[in-house]
Amino acid sequence: MARSAILNVMVQAAMKAGRSLARDFGEVQNLQVSLKGPGDYVSQADRKAEEVIFTELSRARPGYAFLMEERGEVAGEDDQHRWIVDPLDGTTNFLHGLPIFSISIALERQGQIVAGVIYNPAMDELYTAERGGGAFMNDRRLRVAGRNKLSDSVIGTGVPHLGRGHHGEFLVEMRNIMAEVSGIRRLGSAALDLAYVAAGRMDGFWEGNLSPWDVAAGILMIREAGGFVSDKSGGQDMFGSGQIVAGNEQIHKALLKALKRPVSAR
Ligand code: IPD
Ligand code: CA
Ligand code: CA
Repeated sequence: MARSAILNVMVQAAMKAGRSLARDFGEVQNLQVSLKGPGDYVSQADRKAEEVIFTELSRARPGYAFLMEERGEVAGEDDQHRWIVDPLDGTTNFLHGLPIFSISIALERQGQIVAGVIYNPAMDELYTAERGGGAFMNDRRLRVAGRNKLSDSVIGTGVPHLGRGHHGEFLVEMRNIMAEVSGIRRLGSAALDLAYVAAGRMDGFWEGNLSPWDVAAGILMIREAGGFVSDKSGGQDMFGSGQIVAGNEQIHKALLKALKRPVSAR
């Protein structure tokens, strides 16, 4: 599979940060049993990974702007391009020694996501996509799952927790969706969840309260794998609303419908 020069830059940055995270993940597993726990260590690992990505990307394309989880907005002289980066998506998993976390890097050109990379260093799985060029896991081309009924589907989501709002709203959504599907999963890394939908490992996904860096690469991944993505009202304001609903055409539609339904007594 031939990658463009820009995608190669993104892959190199993600893999380099991934090596750093993998080393730190090994140490987290040791700190896990210590009294203090690995909290501070994990924030350092997160910042270190972001630094690696920032350095690599700014060296390769000086002037591009950034939106990064830790650093926030970094203006660039080039107002056409912006990197959107989550250096560690799945921090809670990482902190607890659960090997489900990822690095997510997207490139936006004139407001449109044109390339995305999601890398899970613990499993050495690299997801890549370019607008119009398809989505891949390592060298394998991705296609969303073909199941077209919710009753056959496994659907991913994110569960709000302490310090996050919308608990009641989520319970209503969960009540509706769980009654119609064959299984629900909460993996703990929204970027990987979206990559898994692109890979057909999960049939669909929904979550609210997300940030652009959680979803930017995943949105492109799913579209390039033939899937559909929207906010909960079916529009395209995923960044502004923080919401995402995804799946193949039928599952996406069925999820939107189920999410809107008033809670049933079933
Ligand atoms: C979190 C993960 C998680 C999602 C949270 C995100 P973080 O990102 O993507 O799956 O449910 O809402 O904030 O904090 O681990 O980078
Ligand atoms: Ca995140
Ligand atoms: Ca993060």
